[in-house]
Amino acid sequence: MSKTVNVAVVGATGAVGETMLKILAERQFPIGTLTVLASERSAGGKVEYGARQLVVQDLATFDPNGIDIALFSAGGSVSKEYAPKFAAAGAVVIDNSSVFRGDADVPLVVAEVNPEAARHRPRGIIANPNCSTMQLMVALAPIHRAVGIERINIATYQSVSGTGRRALEELGRQTAALLNFQDPRPEVYPVQIAFNVIPHGGDFLDNGYTSEEMKLVWETRKILGDDSIQVNATVVRVPVFYGHSEAVHIETRRKITAADARALLEAAPGVEVVDERAAGGYPTPVTHASGNDPTYVGRIREDISHPRGLDLWVVSDNIRKGAALNAVQLAELVLGER
Ligand code: A2P
Repeated sequence: MSKTVNVAVVGATGAVGETMLKILAERQFPIGTLTVLASERSAGGKVEYGARQLVVQDLATFDPNGIDIALFSAGGSVSKEYAPKFAAAGAVVIDNSSVFRGDADVPLVVAEVNPEAARHRPRGIIANPNCSTMQLMVALAPIHRAVGIERINIATYQSVSGTGRRALEELGRQTAALLNFQDPRPEVYPVQIAFNVIPHGGDFLDNGYTSEEMKLVWETRKILGDDSIQVNATVVRVPVFYGHSEAVHIETRRKITAADARALLEAAPGVEVVDERAAGGYPTPVTHASGNDPTYVGRIREDISHPRGLDLWVVSDNIRKGAALNAVQLAELVLGER
């Protein structure tokens, strides 16, 4: 690779793709050529990159030769078909879908947690973790390193942007419809999302959990490199546009006090502690996470029901740190290898 790299963003018209472009511009990623790709439907349309407008090309007819780094966020089936083609043409693929995350020869990397894993990528693919796992790892890895985590009990409060652009539109449309005494008509979600909460993300599995819940189990173990960690997750979709929140209860191997956990988190990369123990002294998606990079942690307290239990409230912008920002950070790691 030369001093600048040729970058492709696949799924550039989507909620994550457009944020990838924004973050590449914000961080002044050293781009030679920037190719923006989507389906035939939006080919010929334009997307913004800094002050420039780029013309979207059709992925199906694009020749990937010459691309150095490809950021994929166009869904699992697109990644499955095209990521290996881009890798075979010489690109390092950073893939935001879940299709390769479980593969032993594909590293699953959170930039602040296990950056060294990104170097070993025999298939030329690095997987970007699920948004809920991402922010959980940024907050928990420092604690796991210090005292070991045996078990994680988590309930998520996930925003609709994680489902994509159509879900953002659905929340807006349903909210307006209901305020005008009209029928909210669910299309993307199985039931009304506006003014409601839905205890369901992904597909239902035989064990009664959903695929989004089991991602938290598998991905946590892979990223922390510890298959003994027990994870019990409930994924809930809430009528918030941007920013996922998580109520996290952990049981550690050795006791850690709330004060020690706070000190560890204050020193941790990518974390911002907001923990005033007063009204408004905690992070929320709207007041803190939306549009910002850090993973915010508050409500840090010792669990009164368990001798080695600790409670945390973890909030981050699921489109930024949960997807686009981490992907760009991984691209920066690849760049740093040269
Ligand atoms: P398009 O605008 O052509 O549909 P989101 O998750 O926000 O819904 O975005 C999904 C992204 O993936 C969009 O950029 C979308 O492009 C893209 N995409 C979906 N299907 C394909 C496909 N078959 N080939 C290329 N890009 C696709």
